[in-house]
Amino acid sequence: MFHKYLIPNTSKLGEGEVQALQLANQDLLITKQQGQIIVYKNLCPHQNKRLNWSSTAPLDEDGDYIQCDHHGALFSLQDGCCITGPCSGMALQKEILGIEQGNYYLLLS
Ligand code: FES
Repeated sequence: MFHKYLIPNTSKLGEGEVQALQLANQDLLITKQQGQIIVYKNLCPHQNKRLNWSSTAPLDEDGDYIQCDHHGALFSLQDGCCITGPCSGMALQKEILGIEQGNYYLLLS
């Protein structure tokens, strides 16, 4: 049994854009990649802590990767894999999403 939570404003998210949000007591990172909405838990896989210090999305200078504010580790926007840093080879956890009438929902068990 899943509980579903409406993810707000997904239609306003631009291609490649990343936003940090809190939903259902979860810190999340949402991005649009090749037209697909992807949501990651905003938790580093090696220390299990939030990647950003502020409320803005933690990104590298060019906005091409999610970047840990603590250690500079870089994570792929497409699959959440850490490509460099202390958690290299590990990945951000992807959330399960549902789509209903054009709206995206976070599905939590
Ligand atoms: S907390 Fe794990 S790379 Fe920064």
